[in-house]
Amino acid sequence: MNIVILTGAGISAESGLGTFRDKDGLWTRYRIEDVATPEAYARNPALVHEFYNLRRQGLRTAVPNAAHFALAELERRHGGDFLLVTQNVDDLHQRAGSQNVLAMHGELQNALCAGCGHVWSAPDLMFAEDRCARCDVNLCRPDLVWFGEDVRFLDQIIEATEKADLFALIGTSGNVHPAAGLMALAWESGAATVEINLEPSAVASAADRVILGRATEVVPVWVDETLTNAVRLRK
Ligand code: OAD
Repeated sequence: MNIVILTGAGISAESGLGTFRDKDGLWTRYRIEDVATPEAYARNPALVHEFYNLRRQGLRTAVPNAAHFALAELERRHGGDFLLVTQNVDDLHQRAGSQNVLAMHGELQNALCAGCGHVWSAPDLMFAEDRCARCDVNLCRPDLVWFGEDVRFLDQIIEATEKADLFALIGTSGNVHPAAGLMALAWESGAATVEINLEPSAVASAADRVILGRATEVVPVWVDETLTNAVRLRK
């Protein structure tokens, strides 16, 4: 059985990292156009760094939760191709033991030189004055995908989604494309589709099954059930 999972901020919410569009979400306190676009960085890099420095700080004390660990176990035990696509820029899936992870919106723990493309492990704090160790230009930024930029690994993600037997969307509101279109693509390509969220997402109509609940409670139960079915299919 080929499995593709798409995760969003909701899977890390119970690790203490904020979501974007829920009540008290990041986008209720900050404007996307002030902190998450190339234009914002060109206009006010200090503010953009301040926003991501705070998020990097939050990530330092966060630990993976039961939902992250359950997905790592699913990958280890199900016996087939497995791809975990995440929109999250935290590294909690990797820290929980997931191996085949594609971070389509980049990684907060890395820094990128917008001048020469050099990537390195980000320090806790980044500043507009920082200079790239390779080209000495002060265009250092978090290694993230901002609105208006291309997401990463899209061809690989689409190919895996089209081949999936089971596609699960977990903890994402389904508002940001192209990630939001993947469940419909999986469904049209013949996969069984499941959504796990606190509330139905904007793309819940493409789900064969919607499970509502907190990720730490419902994802481990769903993983157990999926592993039981996978073993039954192999017999
Ligand atoms: P959102 O904040 O839009 O959605 C969070 C989702 O998680 C919602 O569907 C909630 O119902 C669900 N949720 C919240 N707490 C949960 C919990 N404990 N258990 C299960 N589900 C829970 O976040 P994303 O959909 O991930 O992009 O946002 C997508 C993209 O928008 C982000 O990657 C980011 C943002 O702008 C960029 O910055 C490019």
